[in-house]
Amino acid sequence: MRVIRTKDYEDMSRKAANVIGALVVTKPDCVLGLATGSSPVGTYKRLVEGYQAGDLDFSRVKSVNLDEYKGLPKENEQSYYYFMQDNLFKHVNIDPANTHLPDGTEPDSEKACGDYDRVIASMGGVDLQLLGLGHDGHIGFNEPNDEFDKETHCVNLTQMTIEANKRFFASADEVPKQAYTMGIATIMRAKCVLMVVSGADKAQILKDAFFGPITPKVPASILQLHPNFILVADEAALSLI
Ligand code: F6R
Repeated sequence: MRVIRTKDYEDMSRKAANVIGALVVTKPDCVLGLATGSSPVGTYKRLVEGYQAGDLDFSRVKSVNLDEYKGLPKENEQSYYYFMQDNLFKHVNIDPANTHLPDGTEPDSEKACGDYDRVIASMGGVDLQLLGLGHDGHIGFNEPNDEFDKETHCVNLTQMTIEANKRFFASADEVPKQAYTMGIATIMRAKCVLMVVSGADKAQILKDAFFGPITPKVPASILQLHPNFILVADEAALSLI
């Protein structure tokens, strides 16, 4: 595990974007695993700036997102599809046919998840997986559990995650209760995992996840075993280390 300590969110976003940008430059047809949430928004902004400056070309880049709410159509502003369009895809020259998310509109969970695993496999796996860190240690929608879930699967979201996500909806009642997410094995197969963490509210879970025991009760802790895991975190998030 490599820890890159940054001053603040902006500094974290620049450094994370530099890691991703370096891959896009050195491997123009790379497969990027992408995340939603507030943590990577600044990273996406910097990548868009890199594209606008003529430094980054996404024309051959392929992407797979970590997760998607089950039951939300693409047009719903809270779908992760919409988030990705809004924050990255429509601002760069990535080919829409090369961007992938689990199909939240597929009601058959087994089909949706199997199809998604096949998409990832057909691309030859993920070169770099970007992640945020949930307050309970979740990655993707892999919530604390008695065991690590392996492949893409359908999850019932915990009350804590529903509460955390309700800021994006009119009320907690409107937050979908299920999601499709890459599994822990899917994430661990990425050649490089890059996590961005910011803020004092993440300090305790960051400490538990990366400086405590490896346990499915803290799903992110498994990343301690990843051979190429880069943690880019700001001073506030690292304040307990
Ligand atoms: C996003 C995702 C989630 C978030 C996590 C942190 O696709 O899968 O695991 O990374 O909930 O969210 P933020 O960044 O909003 O604190």
